[in-house]
Formats: sequence, structure tokens, C-alpha cells
Amino acid sequence: MTTLVAAEAAASPSGQPIVRLATPADDAYIDDLQAIAFGPGRFARTAFRVRERFPIDPTLSLVAEIDGTTCGSVWMTPISVGGLKGYLLGPLATHPNFRKRGAGKLLAREVSKLALSRGEGHFVLLVGDQDYYCPLGWVPTVPGNIQFPGPVDPTRVLLLADDKSLAQSLKGPIASFDQGQ
Ligand SMILES: CC(C)(COP(=O)(O)OP(=O)(O)OC[C@H]1O[C@@H](n2cnc3c(N)ncnc32)[C@H](O)[C@@H]1OP(=O)(O)O)[C@@H](O)C(=O)NCCC(=O)NCCS
Repeated sequence: MTTLVAAEAAASPSGQPIVRLATPADDAYIDDLQAIAFGPGRFARTAFRVRERFPIDPTLSLVAEIDGTTCGSVWMTPISVGGLKGYLLGPLATHPNFRKRGAGKLLAREVSKLALSRGEGHFVLLVGDQDYYCPLGWVPTVPGNIQFPGPVDPTRVLLLADDKSLAQSLKGPIASFDQGQ
């Protein structure tokens, strides 16, 4: 009886997002989601140019689910800046039907925790809204210090790192992960 009740509880909708690693079976969904979230202009974005040069790490590709339905995605690109290894987060997207339920923030938090727990990269960089990311721990960098392969609004270049001085000191062009320590 107790087992049955537990099983029913597990199967009943909670409405809460969870995250899991993406698999190749998620590729088409993620492609469609990014098209919905960013539109045709996504290929012109500066962050897209970084991902053209340096591949994403598929083992850091997470998706969100709510009640068994896939509803969000985040990618990570291993990079280095000024000789220091780290990651560029993005794109982060949630399906419009599942927004404001915590999936976006959960994805950003969990993928950063997973990447930094590997002990190789020192920071998670992104280009995004301060109002969204700063409450999660990201802080503004020094405008112009981190050079992207295209134009970015310098006030949107944000950094998450255990070393709180890094947002002030990190400087240089975005390079490959291999060029960092
Ligand atoms: C941004 C995005 C990922 C948020 O996804 P989400 O699953 O709704 O996020 P959460 O549920 O974790 O957080 C929602 C909260 O963030 C707020 N929020 C959403 N986008 C925001 C933004 N750009 N700036 C500030 N706050 C924002 C919402 O108003 C909401 O606030 P509330 O909790 O007070 O109601 C989603 O709206 C999206 O895919 N947008 C299009 C693509 C995009 O802009 N990606 C981010 C690129 S940096």
C-alpha cells in the first residue's frame, strides 16, 4: 500500500522543473527551441560566433523538464581568457509555454555547478541581462576587458567565479580552452 502511494506521488504532476543531461535524441527539440527563442537573428549574435570557433561540450548540455515534458536547454562552450580556462554559457532558452516556472534559472545554476565541479575551469562567462543573472551570482566585468569576436554590449558581459576578484582582473580575447590553465 505504502509503495503504491509513493509510486502515484512520483507519477503525479508537480509543476516543478528538473534538469537532466541532454542526449542526441534532444538535438531536434533544442534546435527548434533556439529558433523559437532567438529567431533567425541568432546566427548573427556574437556568442554564436564564439561557438562557431570553439565547439560546445555536449557533456555540459542540459535540458529542463516539467512533468516529463522537455521545456528548456542550455549549452556550455569551454574557452579561455587571458590564459585562464573557463566556460561561456549559452544559449539559455525556455519554451514560451513553460516560462516563469524556474526552469531557466535552474538550468543556469546547474550547468555552472556541473562545469565548475570538474575543477578545470575557473569561471562561467555569459552575455546577458544583469537583472536576470546577477541575483544568481554573476557580476559585471570591466567594460572592454574581455574581447569577443564581434560587438557586445559591455554592460552585459557577466562573470561567475569562486574568485571574486576575477571579474575585475580577467582580460584578453576569447581563446580556446587548450590555451588556458
Ligand atoms: C530568459 C529565459 C531563459 C527565462 O526563462 P524562464 O524559464 O522563464 O526563467 P525563470 O522561470 O527561471 O525566471 C523567470 C523570472 O525571470 C524574469 N526574467 C525573464 N527574463 C528576464 C530578463 N531578460 N531580465 C530580467 N528578468 C527576466 C521573469 O520576469 C521572471 O520573474 P519572476 O520570477 O519575478 O516572475 C526565457 O525567457 C527565454 O528563453 N527567453 C528567450 C531567450 C533569451 O533571452 N535567453 C537568455 C539569453 S541571455
